[in-house]
Amino acid sequence: MNRGLNRFAILVACATFFLIIAGALVTSHDAGLATPDWPLSNGQVFPKMVGNLFWEHGHRMVATTVGMLTIVLMIYILRTEKRSWVRKLGIFALIAVIAQGLLGGLTVKLMLPLAVSTAHATLAQLFFCTTVSLAVFTSRSWMEATPIQEENGTLPLRPLCTAALVTIFLQLIIGATLRHSATWDQHLPTGLILTHIGGALVVTITLGRASITTLRRYKDEKFLARPALVAFLLLGLQLLLGMAAYWTRLKSPDDPQPLNPMVAITVAHVACGALVFVSTIVLTLRTYRVLPASVQSSSFSLSAANAKG
Ligand code: HEM
Ligand code: HEM
Repeated sequence: MNRGLNRFAILVACATFFLIIAGALVTSHDAGLATPDWPLSNGQVFPKMVGNLFWEHGHRMVATTVGMLTIVLMIYILRTEKRSWVRKLGIFALIAVIAQGLLGGLTVKLMLPLAVSTAHATLAQLFFCTTVSLAVFTSRSWMEATPIQEENGTLPLRPLCTAALVTIFLQLIIGATLRHSATWDQHLPTGLILTHIGGALVVTITLGRASITTLRRYKDEKFLARPALVAFLLLGLQLLLGMAAYWTRLKSPDDPQPLNPMVAITVAHVACGALVFVSTIVLTLRTYRVLPASVQSSSFSLSAANAKG
């Protein structure tokens, strides 16, 4: 295990989380078109950071830093990592961050069309997923994890967690479409809100089931129990933030400008959504690392025990 590489991968993942918050601040302040040009801002490399340009250009600068960190991470991985699939993931991270930067530039050039802004918000989550996965794969706990031979119960955890992961990802896409369908001075489309609330229900069922089952079966296995508990608690927080975001967005069209409570709550909802997603990724990856593909049903265990005498 390379401690330095793991620490660096964690740093890149944390920087990406900060970048997601910086991006969400651009959207919530409606600052996406603070400058209509790209890659320069108002024709300058470093414009005066006044008004909405603070959020828009600030986001570009954080994105540039993360892009450079990703280049260093890829070189670090290619120089020190032997597992070819981890090396490939390092290369993929760099491709993803470049594509994300291009989508960011494109959404400005095209004046924030729904499809491009939504794709930019979605790829941000996928890139975050990639950096967190790299941090997981290079960690000591991953390298030293010992497989658990048997899993008792009716449903295996691997597909349960995968189902939770897929539904969360779909929910993030619906959330991004909803968020970019109306600026602060417009009302959110009812159909999309209802779809997003339906999605929240499905996520609550799938992630609730996956995390509670993990906690019931493996409460003493920190490797699995910890991300399950974190994902479960974050889900509760995300539901509360979602309701608060809905309430503040309901009132925001009457405000003279995007006000701080609405900005803070909607940004927190985006950030917590990213954390729900990555904590479920950590849980899912770890189930694939240590658990068998299928369960040992209790009736089967009983007959096997009887056969043994
Ligand atoms: C390279 C990594 C980047 C990441 C991970 C990233 C991430 C994000 C995120 C998470 C959002 C918020 C989406 C939302 O709240 O729904 C956002 C918004 C935005 N980003 Fe980026 N971004 C990156 C690069 C860039 C670049 C290079 C630009 C160049 C102009 C850019 C321009 C924008 C704009 C204009 C918005 C607001 C879109 C809107 O209000 O519709 N981004 N970004
Ligand atoms: C599992 C639960 C949930 C998850 C994972 C989730 C995730 C998200 C994400 C990631 C976004 C923004 C996407 C982006 O632009 O990148 C979003 C937007 C939004 N969500 Fe949720 N959400 C959940 C539950 C809820 C609930 C229960 C409500 C309550 C009605 C809600 C209301 C909203 C609203 C109003 C927006 C748009 C905010 C804005 O216009 O700024 N969400 N959601």
